[in-house]
Amino acid sequence: MQSRRSAQWYAGNDRNSYLHRAWMRRGLPADAFDGRPHIAIANTASDLTPCNAHLDEVARSVRDGIHEAGGIALNLPVVSLGETQVRPTAMLWRNMAAMATEEMLRANPIDGVVLLGGCDKTIPSLLMAAASVDLPAVVMPGGPMLTGTFRGAPLGCGTGVWQLSEEVRAGTLSAAEFIRSESSMIRSKGHCNTMGTASTMGLLAEVLGMTLPGVAGIPAPDSRLLEAAHATGVHVVDMIDAGRRPSAVMSRGSFLNAIVALAALGGSTNAVVHLLAIAGRLGVELTQDDFDRTGAHVPLLVDLQPAGRFLMDDLHRAGGLHAVLNEVRDLLDPAALTVTGRPLVEYLDSAQVYDREVIRPREQPLQPAAGIAVLYGNLAPDGAVIKPAAASPELLSHRGPAVVFDSIEDLHARLDDPDLGVTADSVLILRGCGPKGYPGMPEVANLPLPAKLLAEGIRDMVRICDGRMSGTAYGTVVLHVTPEAAAGGPLAKVRTGDIIVLDVAARRLDVDVPDAELAARAPAAAAVNAFARPRRGWERLYVDTVGQANTGADCDFLLGSSGDEVSRESH
Ligand code: FES
Ligand code: MG
Repeated sequence: MQSRRSAQWYAGNDRNSYLHRAWMRRGLPADAFDGRPHIAIANTASDLTPCNAHLDEVARSVRDGIHEAGGIALNLPVVSLGETQVRPTAMLWRNMAAMATEEMLRANPIDGVVLLGGCDKTIPSLLMAAASVDLPAVVMPGGPMLTGTFRGAPLGCGTGVWQLSEEVRAGTLSAAEFIRSESSMIRSKGHCNTMGTASTMGLLAEVLGMTLPGVAGIPAPDSRLLEAAHATGVHVVDMIDAGRRPSAVMSRGSFLNAIVALAALGGSTNAVVHLLAIAGRLGVELTQDDFDRTGAHVPLLVDLQPAGRFLMDDLHRAGGLHAVLNEVRDLLDPAALTVTGRPLVEYLDSAQVYDREVIRPREQPLQPAAGIAVLYGNLAPDGAVIKPAAASPELLSHRGPAVVFDSIEDLHARLDDPDLGVTADSVLILRGCGPKGYPGMPEVANLPLPAKLLAEGIRDMVRICDGRMSGTAYGTVVLHVTPEAAAGGPLAKVRTGDIIVLDVAARRLDVDVPDAELAARAPAAAAVNAFARPRRGWERLYVDTVGQANTGADCDFLLGSSGDEVSRESH
């Protein structure tokens, strides 16, 4: 048998192998060290990541599968990020979670890993880590929540919060009813049940080939999730024997398939920064423009909130991811592999659609061209993105005066001022929310509308921001404006009253100010002063090294892979 990586710790009779083995003899029998694979379960279960709180139960099924296949399962709690809990934004910690996980996978005596994630940043950070250490790895997604209902209608996680809070501000919903909806929305264990970032990244992990086929999208409380977890545990042992590493699974073709799927699913704009960051760890050539080139013409087939009506439980019932992928099969790279060593497209043969309301036929899409559009112009020299599927069609070509906010605090202080000079034609600009500026590029781009316009019945306006938008949000929102204001982008030079020109069909985002005048303007002092300058700690390291959104907002020193080798002993 080929020598395992874990044998570098455990094989032999010297002092060091004694140290490694002896301390593990707390429940592990002697034959645990006879050359069988040692497998980490990288577990993001945490009470403070409520969407992942059930992952210990999932880990038990993975562990059973690993044991059944002759492996040794080892629980490895890793940094976990609760999207709704951590401040200032979970995105500030994504790269840190990826780094910490990568280092612990490399440092420990393991031969492979099962990655347990769910809530927004957890699957991206685990995939970034696995790509950089490149040990055999498989993702086991924790699955979405069941559908909750309020006033007799389904209430989507996140999406419902944006809708109901606007109703409260417009005076059409009482504060008491608003609070009553909380436990209707969060009905069960699992991650958000809309096509937000967690659902998107769980499904895209499968499209990238990194889950067992057919696993992504199974609701968290569904018995089949634990069955899938068991099968994943069995399978990782095979992967280790086959030496199948993330670098052999995730190819450029896999990423292009993920871009096609992102459009057909109506997935989160956050997938842009996450896929770019994962590709950056693998050294796979992928740019923001690939999203437009490959995805923009792909039709929207899935009628899920926030772009549509249904929720993840409905998608699973209607045939799930494979049924969606089968509709766009001709657009997929047939050579892209999965963790089984077989191509993804092979698994689509048995796909069936059981509900044509939820998964539309290719000929009758919800929207004919739904992928992310990448805009350029004098306001976004390095690009900005918009999700036309979540926007108001009549606003996709728009000209209007800017109303500029220099920070989130400035926005909160002035947005509802009755004297704020704003009309439905205005373009709301929020800056200082990029990776460096906030720091961490929070999900604030879907800024609320001014109360006085809400009262007039206005429900959408053009909004522009150098931050991100929650995958559960909707609206005509231009986000990820690059370079961000804090990095000297022209967004810092826009003034209230400047005319903004958005033309999504032409892929343009401009401010109608002559080039010479724009060049001569100094960046607004308030926008620059809002730039966070942390003195120490991760935040300091982050703002000093983080890249811009158009390349995935990873830290420069984390790009690429270091492999799994550790040459020096600990004693
Ligand atoms: Fe955890 Fe939405 S808050 S997935
Ligand atoms: Mg989010």
